[in-house]
Amino acid sequence: MQSALIHPHDDMFHGSTEHYASVGTQMAEFVSYAAKLAQADSPNVLELPCGYGRVTRHLAARFDPQKVHVADIMVPAVEFCVATFGVTGYSIVDPVYEFQNVPDSFFEVAALGSLITHLSGHNARTVMRHFFKKLKPGGVAVVTTHGARSREILETADCYQIGETARAHLLSSYDAGQFGFVNYLPDHSLEAKTVDYIGDSYGIALIPHNWVGDLCNDNGLTILEYRPGGWDNHQDVFFITRA
Ligand SMILES: C[S@@+](CC[C@H](N)C(=O)[O-])C[C@H]1O[C@@H](n2cnc3c(N)ncnc32)[C@H](O)[C@@H]1O
Repeated sequence: MQSALIHPHDDMFHGSTEHYASVGTQMAEFVSYAAKLAQADSPNVLELPCGYGRVTRHLAARFDPQKVHVADIMVPAVEFCVATFGVTGYSIVDPVYEFQNVPDSFFEVAALGSLITHLSGHNARTVMRHFFKKLKPGGVAVVTTHGARSREILETADCYQIGETARAHLLSSYDAGQFGFVNYLPDHSLEAKTVDYIGDSYGIALIPHNWVGDLCNDNGLTILEYRPGGWDNHQDVFFITRA
């Protein structure tokens, strides 16, 4: 992968091309594994959100780019992915957690990488309900959360730049089995361009496993596999199928 392909506004790039490539490759491997679980040889793939294509570039290399569909609320990010990687793109419009312009029941596999990690419990629930409508029955999705491993990391340091009060709130919510959500500190540098674009609805969530389990039970979804800290030794990874 060439660093020239890393967009200057890509908040997912933290200075190491090796790390950027490894995180993107790992997610593409999860998507390939989901395709195996779904028994789909030539799947239609949804990546939501795509950002500036940290993962998209690897999906476009592994799958037929015309069958890779990507979506994001940031219009320039979607335009970049479409122009650079030859994928199909959707800019998400109001109501922004319902993805109405993405086709329903169309995808054998889908990735929801690092979105509900940044939303309130209410918005994350809406996202999960609508995201899973995009899968065909029998399809398999990769969903990542800030869960067990994030809790461990957050206990040792303010790794998300949220401040001590917010950090204590997230840890105590998580330990009580509750979905926690807070905003970044005003002077945060992490994901600053994304927050500028979206606003305060985009912050940091900490999500207990039981929240995902309950949501799946309520929506006809089944967790096939759970890998705590499976993505970059940080985000928890769920493989979830729709009945
Ligand atoms: C942490 S980034 C992850 C991007 C990509 N999945 C990756 O791992 O490189 C979160 C992305 O979610 C996008 N986003 C936030 N709210 C969204 C919404 N309602 N619909 C679609 N995308 C959204 C942001 O614009 C940002 O690109």
